[in-house]
Amino acid sequence: MVNPLDQLLARVPARNKRAKRPSVTISFAQSLDGSIASRSHRPLPLSGPESMNMTHRLRAAHDAILVGIGTIVADNPLLTVRLEEGQHPQPVILDTHLRTPLEASVLQHPKPPLIACSAGSNVDRVHELDAAGARVLAIAAGPDGRVSLPALLQRLAQLGFGTLMVEGGSQVITSFVRERLADALVITVSPWLVGGLHAVEDLGQESLKRLPRLLDPGWGKFGSDFVVWGELEWQET
Ligand SMILES: NC(=O)c1ccc[n+]([C@@H]2O[C@H](COP(=O)([O-])OP(=O)(O)OC[C@H]3O[C@@H](n4cnc5c(N)ncnc54)[C@H](OP(=O)(O)O)[C@@H]3O)[C@@H](O)[C@H]2O)c1
Repeated sequence: MVNPLDQLLARVPARNKRAKRPSVTISFAQSLDGSIASRSHRPLPLSGPESMNMTHRLRAAHDAILVGIGTIVADNPLLTVRLEEGQHPQPVILDTHLRTPLEASVLQHPKPPLIACSAGSNVDRVHELDAAGARVLAIAAGPDGRVSLPALLQRLAQLGFGTLMVEGGSQVITSFVRERLADALVITVSPWLVGGLHAVEDLGQESLKRLPRLLDPGWGKFGSDFVVWGELEWQET
């Protein structure tokens, strides 16, 4: 019998070097009521050890890993592969105004993190982050003034990244889903009730045909957590 981890990894979108953007997998851990953090954005170690190991295998299966500046400030993640064998994906931070703290752990990552900011950012700040170990990428702004995701994905494809894992947080996941820039989803469901911050906020749609769903979802038990995975599809444009 194939174990759940192998089933899950077999569904990770393939690397396509000629595509205009990397394949995108969104992955996060939530409580039974859909919370990824406390209401005040305090990080919660929801995942048990088995699903944490799964997450690190999933990281190693991707070329790059992306989080928002909200997650950098709240959780201070390192974004490496530590619990399993495998290569570290390239860390990427969405940070329009270069708010990444100079003492952020991700700046100690073995691969200098790419910080995607808006074009025309403060040059002194670019130099400070550069000196602290980051590479700043100036990207066009989207209609909301934040980093344009299509423009960033195109740049990542040009840099040779074929697959991207998006780990959070809520605003970033919502943007990727709202803009239909996600290909696959891996959700760890831990047996807690939190009443906190949800992974996906308003998608601006109410018809199920225009909302995403998992195509032929797979699932497995990892310790006391359930993990659900599958490709995302929209029935109607
Ligand atoms: N349980 C889990 O698996 C998990 C994983 C990760 C995070 N979290 C939790 O999630 C929370 C953080 O989530 P969050 O929603 O506050 O922050 P976030 O999604 O990590 O970051 C949001 C920020 O990213 C920047 N950004 C730049 N371009 C963007 C774009 N196109 N779309 C969206 N955001 C863009 C924006 O700030 P600027 O405008 O300044 O650039 C925005 O405020 C924390 O509490 C953390 O613990 C949980």
